[in-house]
Amino acid sequence: MSIERTFAMIKPDGVRRHLVGELISRIEAKGYDIVALKKMTIPRETAEKHYGEHAGKPFFGGLVDFITSGPVVAMVLEGENAIAGWRGMMGATNPADAAPGTVRGDFATTIDENVAHGSDAPETAVREIGIFFPEL
Ligand code: RTP
Ligand code: MG
Repeated sequence: MSIERTFAMIKPDGVRRHLVGELISRIEAKGYDIVALKKMTIPRETAEKHYGEHAGKPFFGGLVDFITSGPVVAMVLEGENAIAGWRGMMGATNPADAAPGTVRGDFATTIDENVAHGSDAPETAVREIGIFFPEL
């Protein structure tokens, strides 16, 4: 058994398109516990920190513009193998490569607006939970 916590986010496009209920339903149906949840508009400095690994890449400015363009739903999920599990449910970064049945495969068409975020490794999960839910 490996009970993990991961950071999950419904991005501004997902909130704008009223996919919050759909995505939370999938998370709960899978069996993950939602340990914490809040709707918020991410301050630019927080977005730059969250996506710090991509600083300097050509898409960085647009990525920060997008993720701060409206409210997101930020969550901490907990469950067996939750980090890789939620990434699998999200599907490939580019929706063109994402399998049907995944969030990005079912609900997105472009890499710039791909509906959901999930931590990609245990260290990333700790870092991202610390940014968005420092009280945990
Ligand atoms: P995320 O962090 O948003 O959950 O996505 P991810 O792990 O699947 O992908 P990542 O490599 O961390 O990239 C973060 C976001 O940057 C945008 N991106 N654009 N044009 C490009 O080549 C490119 N590569 C990445 C995507 O919106 C991706 O979700
Ligand atoms: Mg990432």
